[in-house]
Amino acid sequence: SSAQIGVTGLAVMGRNLARNFARNGYTVAVHNRTAARMHALVEEFGHEGSFVAAETAKEFVAALERPRRLVIMVKAGEPTDAVIEEFAPLLEPGDMIIDGGNAHFADTRRRERALREQGIHFVGTGVSGGEEGALNGPSIMPGGSKESYESLGPMLEKISAKAADGAPCVTHVGPDGAGHFVKMVHNGIEYADMQLIGEAYQLLRDVAGYEPAQIADIFRTWNTGRLDSYLIEITAEVLSHVDAATGKPFVDVVVDQAEQKGTGRWTVQIALDLGVPVSGIAEAVFARSLSGHAALREASRRLAGPTAAPLGEAEAAAFADRVEQALYASKIVSYTQGFHEVAAGSDEYGWDIDLGAVSAIWRGGCIIRAAFLDRIRAAYDARADLPSLLSDETFAREIADAQDDWREVLIAATRQGVPTPGFAAALAYYDALRAERLPAALTQGQRDYFGAHTYRRTDRDGSFHTLWGDDRSEVSA
Ligand code: 6PG
Repeated sequence: SSAQIGVTGLAVMGRNLARNFARNGYTVAVHNRTAARMHALVEEFGHEGSFVAAETAKEFVAALERPRRLVIMVKAGEPTDAVIEEFAPLLEPGDMIIDGGNAHFADTRRRERALREQGIHFVGTGVSGGEEGALNGPSIMPGGSKESYESLGPMLEKISAKAADGAPCVTHVGPDGAGHFVKMVHNGIEYADMQLIGEAYQLLRDVAGYEPAQIADIFRTWNTGRLDSYLIEITAEVLSHVDAATGKPFVDVVVDQAEQKGTGRWTVQIALDLGVPVSGIAEAVFARSLSGHAALREASRRLAGPTAAPLGEAEAAAFADRVEQALYASKIVSYTQGFHEVAAGSDEYGWDIDLGAVSAIWRGGCIIRAAFLDRIRAAYDARADLPSLLSDETFAREIADAQDDWREVLIAATRQGVPTPGFAAALAYYDALRAERLPAALTQGQRDYFGAHTYRRTDRDGSFHTLWGDDRSEVSA
């Protein structure tokens, strides 16, 4: 028993994570349901470090030093439960099972509770950064017990990405499902970022008349400024790519139906339960669903569109600058909504999540990594109980500066019939929060009218009901 850590489930993510541990000097036990994949890993990458090949679950567990640290990298849902059922009986109190898949946090809570009774630490861990990140340094979001982090933390810090200031992109997010919850919201924000970038692209193309290669250059320029991020960087790469078979821009030969594996949808489902308005993330999920309704789209192709003419060439560059403003302002709103959901989850489940620490570990390694996250960290470091990112002076000022252009972009989009649900939802959220009065007062009046659901008054405490069908006098409810 010499391995400090073991990885079972050696598909791309598991394999790369195992190699990452080995490259960092750890002895890594490796196991896979079909042993051939495990042998292939040892054969191909054995020279990178110290691996212990385990053909069976028993061999795997026996190879681990105690307390055992066992990473499972299998599909979320039933496959994860199956692996836990296989290994848990072989473990002893104090051992740790680290689930690095994209599990639903409610499953993680359930598993953590069950294994805790056996004295086993179950550490639901968000891992972001795709294949490349798993190998060279992901952003890591572990939940589970504090004790487990004392033992695991140093190893995770070693294999994680490092932010520009050298800080490892890993922190103990909170107990039980906190890590997977935060990873879920990370993915929701990822969906929103991708949707907003998609809308910016479509506007540059359909309103300003730019070609994909030109738009790639615009994104490259944006990537040198405040939008500097991994997703903007890869957007430029995808847009400048030319399809070898046809010579057309790659983006024009890909079927325009976006798929999803579920984490963005979960973010919205949970937000609905928590009563947190994540309208930008919701629009991003719905935009993917809409894109996939091929028959519905086909049946709708002949619906009337606007008659306005697109912009002239002379106006294109100024419009592109406005789109940058709209994109940046909408991005601030998506992150505001995402962090609100993390805060609400933390309250609901008693996780005590440090939002500044979460923004800090998203600065490197993960898909939404961006210079921007360092500024969010600064905002929460300055004030841990910030009610919303929009209450941070710097972000509020930036939105104030961007808002005229943001509105103009939406006017142009509407006039030209370019769908921009993400930009529009973000602006509506901003304007709703700013509003002195909302039509919610009317909604309450309607509810009281048809269902005697009562309302509160602005000038007095208590609940009231108006006798709508009678003399319309008011009674205390
Ligand atoms: C990451 C990614 C990763 C994956 C998601 C999103 O953080 O490394 O978010 O988890 O790409 O599963 O995928 P879908 O777009 O398929 O939902």
